[in-house]
Amino acid sequence: VPALAGRDFLTLGDFTPDELVGLLDLAAALKQDWQAGRGGEPLYGKTLAMIFEKPSTRTRVSFEVGMQQLGGRVLNLSPRELQLSRGETLADTARVLSRYVDALMVRAYSHATVEELAAAATIPVINGLTDLYHPCQVMADLLTIREHKGRLRGIRVAYVGDSNNVAHTWLLGAALLGLHLRLACPPGYEPHPEILALAASLARGTGATVEVGHDPVTAVRGADVVYTDVWTSMGQEGEEEDRRRAFAPYQVNAQLVAHAAPDYIFMHCLPAHRGEEVTSGVLDGPHSVVWDQAENRLHAQKAILLALLA
Ligand code: CP
Ligand code: NVA
Repeated sequence: VPALAGRDFLTLGDFTPDELVGLLDLAAALKQDWQAGRGGEPLYGKTLAMIFEKPSTRTRVSFEVGMQQLGGRVLNLSPRELQLSRGETLADTARVLSRYVDALMVRAYSHATVEELAAAATIPVINGLTDLYHPCQVMADLLTIREHKGRLRGIRVAYVGDSNNVAHTWLLGAALLGLHLRLACPPGYEPHPEILALAASLARGTGATVEVGHDPVTAVRGADVVYTDVWTSMGQEGEEEDRRRAFAPYQVNAQLVAHAAPDYIFMHCLPAHRGEEVTSGVLDGPHSVVWDQAENRLHAQKAILLALLA
């Protein structure tokens, strides 16, 4: 178990490449144990509280089931039912929860919310998606690529679509673990410059490359992994029409993936909007690993829980 006890898990940028590889190794070991029907209850007596400001299927179920498989318990707290909804501060909420539970997983609109909770909490806080980052997702993605491609270093990833929370996390993940990431997005939908600069500086130490452009074919040419996500993320519903227009040339379809490496894999964090960012032909096709990817949320997050709570 990597020595991460007591740490928060808010962004991949807080971790070294060795720490991230340690978590992936632990996830793979936990997955093997689970497949073999082995595994004790290393988190017996521990409680994880979860707060969701937005809907979730994968994150909610995989954290709950994962914690149970490790012998722990889960409390699902709706923000509307907490005194947060009546003005109690995030910091005071974090201080109180720290006296009852052992870790807190939060899905929030604003990344500042998880940072504020983490600053006041005396227990680990885990980011279950914010406007900026989705680190648990990308850990599961990296585990999936390692399973299908046998390695991470040097793998060519094309990310086609919106520079959203998943894309921002991918910039850091690729930079830290030595992958080559090409992101293609419509003009005006580029990544945050500071996150791109951070990725570029992390990449200097690992041999990774990160490039941002506007041509999906250039991004996909020769790629080992073709990745996309929804055009309109949660919280951006008001922009849906504009986005549908701007992103139309960025659909991942049979024509686009024809430019990828012959043994490319298709990835999507899900939920997918079939017929928008990806066709059903690609999503359900022989190169798609999206269900493995969803399953790996469970294994990656069990590793995170175990490492932070060990
Ligand atoms: N990929 C992901 O985080 O899915 P949910 O929104 O269902 O949790
Ligand atoms: N980018 C998407 C991911 C959902 C898991 C969103 O934030 O809505």
